[in-house]
Amino acid sequence: MISLKKRLYANQAMDAKVGETVTLAGWVEQIRVLGKLAFIILRDRTGKFQLTFLGKNFPNIAELTNLTRESIIVAQGKLSSGKSKQFAKELLVSKMEILNKAETPLPIEFIGDKIETGLSKRLDNRFLDLRDPKKLAIFRIRQKAFAAVHEFFAQNGFIETQTPKLVFAGAEGGAETFVMSYFGKKAYLSQSQQLYKQMMMATGFDKVYEIGPTFRAEKSRTMRHLAEFSHLDVEMAFIDSEEDVYKVEEKLLMHIVRYIQRNCKNELAILEKTVSVPKTPFPRISHEGAVKLLQKSGVKIKAEEDIDLEGEKKLGVIIKKKYGADAYFLTNFPWKLKVCKFYWMKNGNVGRGSDLEYMGQELTTGSQREHRYDVLVKQIKERGLNPREFVSYLHPFKFGMPPHGGFGWGMDRLLSYVLGIENIREVVLFPRDTERLTP
Ligand code: 4AD
Ligand code: MG
Repeated sequence: MISLKKRLYANQAMDAKVGETVTLAGWVEQIRVLGKLAFIILRDRTGKFQLTFLGKNFPNIAELTNLTRESIIVAQGKLSSGKSKQFAKELLVSKMEILNKAETPLPIEFIGDKIETGLSKRLDNRFLDLRDPKKLAIFRIRQKAFAAVHEFFAQNGFIETQTPKLVFAGAEGGAETFVMSYFGKKAYLSQSQQLYKQMMMATGFDKVYEIGPTFRAEKSRTMRHLAEFSHLDVEMAFIDSEEDVYKVEEKLLMHIVRYIQRNCKNELAILEKTVSVPKTPFPRISHEGAVKLLQKSGVKIKAEEDIDLEGEKKLGVIIKKKYGADAYFLTNFPWKLKVCKFYWMKNGNVGRGSDLEYMGQELTTGSQREHRYDVLVKQIKERGLNPREFVSYLHPFKFGMPPHGGFGWGMDRLLSYVLGIENIREVVLFPRDTERLTP
């Protein structure tokens, strides 16, 4: 038996000396048997390596004709300098074991195949789909984006929280809640950390953030909606206005993109992508101004009407042309629009919040919150909700709640926008939507 303890990765073997005995293990990407000579391209998470089988070192070459692509093997032999352009070194195999043989045909193809397998079939076989080095690159960048968020908030004095996901009320209202039975009572899967991060403002922690799962029973099957997504939620107390919230959003977006640019050079090269850091300050465009811009460009939209996805994308193009900006804040929404939630502070006829639009699509929604108990109760009623369902949320507002504000930020959307990947499902390991609960 060849011990796996001595296993080197392909990139380590590439750095080892010619003549050294090396063990490699991984997936069989290609097999070519030519009589007394055979080649296998082996793949692991660091890259590919050529295994060469010569009759004099490895008498049982015929055995390789049984081997199937994507099987797992371990091979041992001496390193030699390679003869092909692609591989500067190769392994002259003297011992090989098949650790797990893959069935044929493979349910999907992902490498060097002209016909790309459809997304749904790829997601059905996600483990196999993720063997594609391009997919690994996406998830390495994802890891760095999360690391950048943690670094940013640590540097800026925020405290990380973990709040419940089994909750007493749907924070964002509407029909997009998953209802469940909780020891005989009605409960919900968290729609956002909203109510908890606000309650945290009454504790004196002052600045909090969390990345956690959020669940939304989204019926719309779009490229950017999931039923479960990674939600960054941020809240800060003792702010002067919503502008203080927007400034944090600007700095955070710059920090993450810069971090990816610096720390993901290899991954970006694999994906053949470049990223550019947006310039601050991001333009602030009022809803009224946005509607006028759209009307001017021929879109049929009324004042105080919601801007739909198509309008939003069009607006992105207009703003890019006018200001050269990839990111901007859409502000001053008419209070009657759905985006203005009961917990927002109102200013005349508009809400004191915004959507941060990035690459023509919504990345965040944030606002100054209403911290006055009586006004908050009034707004809950106005939105057709029952204050009795919010008793435990409202309670802290009676005992010293500072002015505060914050935002919610879709991490999966961020990744898809930064990398220019249209479908959000590509940047999530096991996406959930109306049609998918497996794998
Ligand atoms: O805009 P949303 O619904 O805002 C909130 O959750 C508020 N609590 C935020 C606040 O502090 N006022 O969600 C925040 C972000 C969106 O901007 C979007 O990026 C992402 O979460 N998001 C989704 N991502 C994937 N799939 C979905 N179904 C999403 N719904 C929202
Ligand atoms: Mg929103």
